[in-house]
Amino acid sequence: MKINLSINGQAHAADVEPRLLLVHLIRDVAGLTGTHIGCETSICGACTVHLNGAAVKSCCVLAVQAAGAEVTTIEGLASNGALHAVQEGFWECHGLQCGYCTPGMIMTTCALLTANPNPSESEIRHGLEGNLCRCTGYQNIVKSVQYAADKMQAQA
Ligand code: FES
Ligand code: FES
Repeated sequence: MKINLSINGQAHAADVEPRLLLVHLIRDVAGLTGTHIGCETSICGACTVHLNGAAVKSCCVLAVQAAGAEVTTIEGLASNGALHAVQEGFWECHGLQCGYCTPGMIMTTCALLTANPNPSESEIRHGLEGNLCRCTGYQNIVKSVQYAADKMQAQA
């Protein structure tokens, strides 16, 4: 099936099999490997991207379901060489160790802070519970989100 979609503001046309998953379109067709695959069964959140602004696990979406949509991946967050506030938060607060979960964590955090710019610690933990991290113990991830929330509110 022929589909057109936008990824990080760039138009993409692809001829895909109906069974192709969005995560494979992003990684294997568009070549954007910042979006990770951890489980392919909707548990880990490593594959999280934005689909028309909403955080989705891209291993649970068919590529054809993204036809006509606006997709944003981790590669689309920085602008003019400057990290997004959420990326900066994870950098400054050491919110990662191996980094495998980090793209998904960051994409989920961006959507969380759009919906709730000033989340409590429990709201942050609840908002990130669909994203698994095997390394950090989550404490510095929560700090990273709080850093980003503070920075984004100061900029608003
Ligand atoms: S790879 Fe999609 S949720 Fe784990
Ligand atoms: S930093 Fe390694 S899985 Fe989260």
